[in-house]
Amino acid sequence: MQNKANLLDAQMNVNPYNTTDYENNSNWTLGENKPNSNPIKPNTKPIKAKTKPIQTQYKAKQSQFQTQRTLCEFFLFFTFLCPSYNLAMQNWTIQKLLNWVTEHFADKGIDSPRLSAELLLSHILAMKRIELYTQFDKPVHKQQLDRLHDLVERAGQHEPVAYLTGKTEFYSLELNVTPDCMIPRPETELLVERAIEFLRKRTGKQFICDLCTGCGCIAIAIAKNFTDADIIATDISDAALNIAAKNVEKHQLGERIRLLCGDLFDAFVPQLDVGKFDLIVCNPPYVSAPEFEKLDKNVKDYEPKLALFAGDDGLKIYRRVIEKADRFLKPDAALMLEIGYAQGPAIKELLEQTGSFAEIKIEKDPNGNDRIATAIKTSS
Ligand SMILES: C[S@@+](CC[C@H](N)C(=O)[O-])C[C@H]1O[C@@H](n2cnc3c(N)ncnc32)[C@H](O)[C@@H]1O
Repeated sequence: MQNKANLLDAQMNVNPYNTTDYENNSNWTLGENKPNSNPIKPNTKPIKAKTKPIQTQYKAKQSQFQTQRTLCEFFLFFTFLCPSYNLAMQNWTIQKLLNWVTEHFADKGIDSPRLSAELLLSHILAMKRIELYTQFDKPVHKQQLDRLHDLVERAGQHEPVAYLTGKTEFYSLELNVTPDCMIPRPETELLVERAIEFLRKRTGKQFICDLCTGCGCIAIAIAKNFTDADIIATDISDAALNIAAKNVEKHQLGERIRLLCGDLFDAFVPQLDVGKFDLIVCNPPYVSAPEFEKLDKNVKDYEPKLALFAGDDGLKIYRRVIEKADRFLKPDAALMLEIGYAQGPAIKELLEQTGSFAEIKIEKDPNGNDRIATAIKTSS
């Protein structure tokens, strides 16, 4: 706003903050500088100082500038910033809307403004993102504009776009999400990648456990890409499991993924038919107390704290998983954990302390942050 206001001042050749001329010439009166308005009849007598003193003039000028400035800001607000005005008053095509929403999001400091604009617009128009680009000139109707306006305003206040559209993409699969579950992150795809690589080296049907499944993203991505597997997916949140159930149904995996509610392994201990697993995967909450305070607004204010926060040092859930995991794994089976950006050394130590794991590895993500811990259960 400040920048836009300054730009406009420059265009009008007006600088309301620059008062030097008036201040350095406080003896001036208006009349002394007034050119003779009648070249035929010259001024005969000196003009007396009937005119107002400079301080009064300065105040008058200042208030005139103030008025101009307020008008400019008002204009800017309506032209660039007020979504209702913009969406109501113009003939909007897909292209114009994409450009306007992108600019609006960039002004508001929203992550990936173009992508966010595309996601909202394709959601409102029930189109694929690619179709926006093949139908650039298509007009957008009033009802759709009204709905878009509402979502643009909410996104502008940092509500995650995935919650606004009710869906997200993970491992090239569309998944439903609501504020009851965490939005799957692209970094978690690395865990899925390693899990599938591990499973492909084994023979026979594989039994997998996905602890802390949330919307079911890891279990579903593995099941879709490795068909000879049965999966138990658990979460302590019933509400998150309801979303997971919708996603399992959406991808027709009800025969192969079983959802159980409970605290980590407790969820399936009473299920007598559950044997030991070939693979346990887990992306638990891992944000420490100091990190939690510093989370971005779109995470801290909107995603479930239960999915994020894990005690003072962020290791609370890992300690419990690592302590018990070997009891539920076959020999040569794997434990794979997603970990926080600097948790590698602490997790490695926890795994080593059990004495039950070999081939303990910490892998970094493409951004150079610790991301995956893998370990193989020893045979003894
Ligand atoms: C970081 S989210 C991960 C969700 C999903 N697996 C993913 O990768 O996007 C962690 C999940 O763990 C669940 N959770 C937290 N504490 C738990 C516990 N003690 N037992 C089981 N699940 C728990 C939360 O409800 C949340 O869904």
